[in-house]
Amino acid sequence: MSKEKSFLVVGGDSLVGGGLLRALRRRGHFAYASTRRLETVDDQRVYLDFESDEPFQAPTDVDYAFIIAAATNYDRCEKDPLAYKINVELIPRLIESLLGQGLFVTFISTNSVFGGERPWPHEDDPHAPGIAYALQKDKAEDAVRTIAREGGAEQRLNIVRLTKILDSHTSPLPAWFDSWKRGEAVHPFSDLIFAPMSVQFVGEALATIGEKRIPGNLHLSGAENVSYVDFASALASKMGVGPNLIEPTTATAKGIHIAFKPSYSGLGMERTTQLSGVKPQPLSAVIDDLL
Ligand SMILES: NC(=O)c1ccc[n+]([C@@H]2O[C@H](COP(=O)([O-])OP(=O)(O)OC[C@H]3O[C@@H](n4cnc5c(N)ncnc54)[C@H](OP(=O)(O)O)[C@@H]3O)[C@@H](O)[C@H]2O)c1
Repeated sequence: MSKEKSFLVVGGDSLVGGGLLRALRRRGHFAYASTRRLETVDDQRVYLDFESDEPFQAPTDVDYAFIIAAATNYDRCEKDPLAYKINVELIPRLIESLLGQGLFVTFISTNSVFGGERPWPHEDDPHAPGIAYALQKDKAEDAVRTIAREGGAEQRLNIVRLTKILDSHTSPLPAWFDSWKRGEAVHPFSDLIFAPMSVQFVGEALATIGEKRIPGNLHLSGAENVSYVDFASALASKMGVGPNLIEPTTATAKGIHIAFKPSYSGLGMERTTQLSGVKPQPLSAVIDDLL
């Protein structure tokens, strides 16, 4: 592991942070993870809590930070003023400090800033956020862009927006696997669309972006917009599970309120592919990674 130019992953215990740490370390980089659990701090884990008033100083060998952690729960973003403060004030404040320390910074954002009514939005397209989580990410993007511009650090900042990320523990997959094991049908929603990626793909793609230090707006996306019924069918077929164990329904029929129900979830990756070589992840590759 090379410790000359280390990476810092803020939010090392998050789904995305875990995938990124594995990819960076597999490629031979030294990567610190941040945690807000003091008892788990060691020589690769540094303490960082957005809510702490203590200014954060990155380890001296770090020259690139990924800001992965955030208040991510949609419901919490609607209701908890602290979620707004974390996402819109405290994260940009940390990014200002890290840019001031001379680091290259990646800020992780979301496809939901585009609102979900336009297919394959380009990296530099205008936003149309609807839900509180998306509004907060949109405001944070504006704040960090302004901070970088005013500090002359635009060439050391990128914003990477992601579509839905899956690993085998992401809901509803564990319940589907259990049902199929028992020979019971699952009930996926046909009115919920996503463009899933695997956590392995996102980890490797972010590591590539970190190695290439590409400034500006970037996207990582699944290559297909699919419903949960399409997704369950592709997964079942790969697992040798019969189509009779998929009984499609809708969130509407089940009376389940879904905060973000886009018509289109996938992100255009034209600029990202041109500059990084990373292409959207095909659905079959997502499923191979999950299994
Ligand atoms: N998952 C997706 O499908 C998806 C899709 C699009 C974009 N994103 C974005 O990708 C990023 C990662 O998402 P994720 O799903 O991997 O996140 P996650 O698993 O929900 O984890 C969130 C992380 O944020 C940390 N955190 C929360 N409040 C904090 C605070 N006050 N100080 C320090 N750390 C704090 C948590 O720390 P603890 O471990 O201590 O709780 C946790 O590690 C987020 O920015 C999210 O908006 C995710």
